[in-house]
Amino acid sequence: MTMEFTDRVSRVEPSATLAISALATELEAEGADIVDLSVGEPDFPTPENIVAAGKDAMDAGHTGYTTSAGILELREAIADKLADDGLEHDSDEIIVTPGAKQALYEVVQALVEDGDEVVLLDPAWVSYEAMVKMAGGDLTRVDLSETDFQLEPALDELAAAVSDETELLVVNSPSNPTGAVYSDAALEGVRDLAVEHDLTVISDEIYKEITYGVEPTSLGTLEGMADRTVTVNGFSKAYSMTGWRLGYFAGPEELIDQAGKLHSHSVSSAVNFVQHAGLEALETEAAVTEMVTAFEERRDLVVDLLAEHDVDVAVPEGAFYMMLPVAEDDQAWCEGAIEDAHVATVPGSAFGTPGYARISYAASEARLEEGIERLAEEGYL
Ligand SMILES: Cc1ncc(COP(=O)(O)O)c(C=O)c1O
Repeated sequence: MTMEFTDRVSRVEPSATLAISALATELEAEGADIVDLSVGEPDFPTPENIVAAGKDAMDAGHTGYTTSAGILELREAIADKLADDGLEHDSDEIIVTPGAKQALYEVVQALVEDGDEVVLLDPAWVSYEAMVKMAGGDLTRVDLSETDFQLEPALDELAAAVSDETELLVVNSPSNPTGAVYSDAALEGVRDLAVEHDLTVISDEIYKEITYGVEPTSLGTLEGMADRTVTVNGFSKAYSMTGWRLGYFAGPEELIDQAGKLHSHSVSSAVNFVQHAGLEALETEAAVTEMVTAFEERRDLVVDLLAEHDVDVAVPEGAFYMMLPVAEDDQAWCEGAIEDAHVATVPGSAFGTPGYARISYAASEARLEEGIERLAEEGYL
């Protein structure tokens, strides 16, 4: 029998990072010591108090289904956290999801249909493109690589890319893969365009808690944005909880009603005891500060080490990634770097920006030093 697959899935390519991780696995099986700078997750364990809260919740019997949108205590705690950031949302304007990825998927499915135009700021996290394509949308991409990945100097390019036909704009600050944090002036520029063209904007704030000396503004706090912004966040990065799968989105009630249908008919709810652990996470401060401090020290270390080899990078102000300028054929560069130097990175073309490789500095200082040294020794810097 030959199965027939939908256009929806056929339109989407497997992740470009797969070739790199396949190579890494192959080399590791042959005994190679790979310095893995390709991972998108903190290298710290989930803080103990959060793990304990998850276990306690299981012991207390929180193992059944919950309300589809998530337990009320967690939605109220999220509403309080958002209020601290200046975003006003009632608990019924929030849906708790298994990861921010599911939140984004549901929002895109609820807003984008065949032929709708969606604007991305490149380089952009890999899954936005796939999600939009699966929903049938068409992508318009604005390249930020000429402006050190900053949005403010590229507002004219953004203005040229959006029109009354645009359905959705996705903004991710701090950004994966660049670590850029957009200035208030940049966000105000986004607001002006969104109001002028009546756009909905997704503000993916999953790295908001991981910044170095800057306070990112939440887009939804700007005048005129409350009823057109969907704020997405999650627990994976700030609390090192990637495998727990917990995230959320907050937005206007009519979006919550529509996306809520998708949510209840697909995942039902996020995992019950994980939601209870999430409540504890929102109370956790010291462990988060410790992780952010470590990331900042590693960022400085990598920037300094690269400078010693005359490599200039746009210094990230958030998240734990930076874009390394490499050969034009970045896929070949990344494959070579892993084969020759045994250092794994992700090609910039996976994010829509060839000529770069994304380095994740969610690795120990010793491994980061080792990785940079090997890249230099093998002639990759
Ligand atoms: C920009 C961005 N958004 C969303 C996600 C999804 O995170 P999760 O589904 O683990 O909450 C990620 C994960 O890498 C990300 O980098």
